[in-house]
Amino acid sequence: MKSVLEFRARKGQAPISMVSAYTHWEARFLAESPVDCVLVGDSLATVLDGEATTFAATPEIMARHTAAVARGLGESAQRKLLVADFPFLAARRGLSAAVDTAALLLRAGAHAVKIEGVDGHADVIAHLVESGVPVMGHLGLTPQAVHALGGYKVQGRNTAAAEALLRQAKAVEAAGAFGLVLECVPAALGREITAALGVPTIGIGAGAECDGQVLVMADLLGLTTGHRPRFVREFAPAGAAARAGLAAFHTATAERSFPAAAESY
Ligand code: KIV
Repeated sequence: MKSVLEFRARKGQAPISMVSAYTHWEARFLAESPVDCVLVGDSLATVLDGEATTFAATPEIMARHTAAVARGLGESAQRKLLVADFPFLAARRGLSAAVDTAALLLRAGAHAVKIEGVDGHADVIAHLVESGVPVMGHLGLTPQAVHALGGYKVQGRNTAAAEALLRQAKAVEAAGAFGLVLECVPAALGREITAALGVPTIGIGAGAECDGQVLVMADLLGLTTGHRPRFVREFAPAGAAARAGLAAFHTATAERSFPAAAESY
């Protein structure tokens, strides 16, 4: 998928696949895959660095990882829409600071940015869109607001909360966003918001009727350990392969069967 125009045109057509990744080597695999879009998510703070929250991801860190992923996608960057996360509070420092953050991320190779929430910063989304920066929204469980939400919990479970999310989703679209990530909401609400919007929704724990799905690459490959959220499916057992490989390397080293003559100079 080359552009946000193509992304928008997929509404009601074939579902969109998106993978969150942070490193050059992940991007090399993605470049060879049919996956439509790549997200450099601020989840890198939790997945790569073991932080409890995404707060440690600064604009500079996001730009560095965006550049690594853009290099890894190489020529396929022409074929994959590359979105980078606006990190913690970056949309709350006024229009000028938001423009600086967007410039950093787009200069690093992103084609678009993703911004969590909308209340109180719809003007930032609209200003970036008017400035030529495509913006994707993110509602539901917005990890940057984890303390306000009382933890990493499913959102929109009761009528009032569901109505608030529907209103916010319409506000994101009205501000000019080309798409919306919906995280951890009941499948029925994912369906309702998807039907109410003219732009694609990308679900993560939001049911099968969103216009697309996103997962973190380390999760979908089974490379993460510890608590696995219900919405994660392990599509390849790379974690098991990694454990077996590390044990085999240790054994081969202990037995002096590695390196072999062909692996020596
Ligand atoms: O940070 C991230 O990786 C994300 C996705 C999980 C949607 O926001």
